[in-house]
This record gives sequence, C-alpha cells and structure tokens, in this order.
Amino acid sequence: MSEWLNIRMNLNSTQGLPPIELAPGYDLITAEEWGFPACLGRWLDLLAVGFSETHAEGGWTEASWRERIVDQPQFDPAGVFFVRHGGQAVATAFAWLDTPDEREWGRVHWVATDPAHRGKGLGRAVTLAVARYFGDRGFPRVFLETQAYRTSAIRVYVKLGFVPFWDNEEHKAQWEHALPSIADLLAERGWTAPE
Ligand SMILES: CC(C)(COP(=O)(O)OP(=O)(O)OC[C@H]1O[C@@H](n2cnc3c(N)ncnc32)[C@H](O)[C@@H]1OP(=O)(O)O)[C@@H](O)C(=O)NCCC(=O)NCCS
Repeated sequence: MSEWLNIRMNLNSTQGLPPIELAPGYDLITAEEWGFPACLGRWLDLLAVGFSETHAEGGWTEASWRERIVDQPQFDPAGVFFVRHGGQAVATAFAWLDTPDEREWGRVHWVATDPAHRGKGLGRAVTLAVARYFGDRGFPRVFLETQAYRTSAIRVYVKLGFVPFWDNEEHKAQWEHALPSIADLLAERGWTAPE
C-alpha cells in the first residue's frame, strides 16, 4: 500500500451511550475547565507523543494549530477532552464540526493516548466523551476518520458502536486492510457492509 487514505467510521446514534469509566488515578477534564489557552501547550505535547509512532502529516506548531483549529469559529474548548494522571494530560480527543453551521454530524478528532498509559480504556473514555458531548447538544450522529493501519483505534471505535463506512471503491479497498482485525467485533454486532 503506497498511500493510506482516510477512512470513515459512523456512529449512527448518539442515544444510549454508556457512561464514562476511568481507572483509579485518572480523571476527565475539558480544556475549558482546565483553562484555555493555558493548556494548549500540554495538548500539543500530548498529540506529539501520542502520534509519534504513526503520524504522517509532518507535524504542526502552536501557530499552525491555532490557525487550523483554535481560531476557527466552531472551536469549543468545552469539547476538548483530556484524561489526566498525576496532573499530566495522558489522553485526548476533541469535538469538531466540519463547518460551523453543521448540526447533524459531529466529528471526533485527534484521539491519542500517551504510549505509557495505553490499554487502560483511556482512548475509549475520550472518544466516548466527545460522542456524549454531541449527544448532549442534540447531534444525532457522530463520525471520525482514521487510517486502516490504526488497528487499536479502530477496535476502540467499533466497541463504542462506530461502524465502517465507504461509498466508493477506493475507500472500500482501504477497508479491506482493516476489516480482518475487527471481524470478530463486527460479527458480534451483526454488521453488514455498505453496498
Ligand atoms: C488508538 C489509541 C488512542 C487507543 O488508546 P488506548 O488508551 O490504549 O485505548 P483503550 O485502552 O481504550 O483500547 C486500546 C486497544 O488497543 C489495544 N492495544 C494495542 N496496543 C496496545 C498497547 N501497547 N498497550 C495497550 N493496549 C494496546 C488494546 O488491546 C485495546 O484493544 P482491545 O480492547 O481490543 O484489547 C492509542 O493506541 C493511540 O494513541 N494510538 C496512536 C494515535 C492514533 O492512532 N490515534 C487514533 C487516530 S484515528
């Protein structure tokens, strides 16, 4: 595979989402509660650590993150979630709208856990926090984009009810790489492939 395309997963209902559970010693906080923009540097440091093994975009700076995210009208610090441990941010995800007037599809953006804290349900917790954020605000559906090699992430998303989505052959071909790693979960959920 010479190039990984973004592939999409949909959570087709924001109703009945489970509660957020965290292991002892971990707490969930929004950027608004923690103090924004004071926590911006911590956010970017965590993204750098979380995506250090896999990120392909070539990095970002505080200036570029501000331009791309923070200074956009749809940015909401109450939709930026962190799990903290010992006062440090160790997992994150945030709520995003592709256009400021979007009211149907909320996007879960930039999910990452510090490698030292993986496998403790933190990725699940922050993804769920974003999905619940949208549900609380009346959004019926949530989606995200990922890449087919991100097996850990895709398993987290499927367990929360996200399902693979494609509407063209190119994306279907990408999904062929990821489907075997989630076949057990999809079978349990009675998933059927898009036409
Ligand atoms: C995807 C990611 C956020 C998951 O974070 P996490 O806090 O470990 O998530 P959870 O604990 O909720 O679930 C982890 C899953 O990954 C698996 N896993 C893979 N590698 C692991 C590791 N080194 N340690 C622990 N669990 C690991 C776990 O087994 C679990 O899957 P399972 O429930 O089927 O067993 C994290 O792996 C990460 O930051 N990856 C790099 C960035 C990335 O790919 N982000 C997603 C972009 S769409």
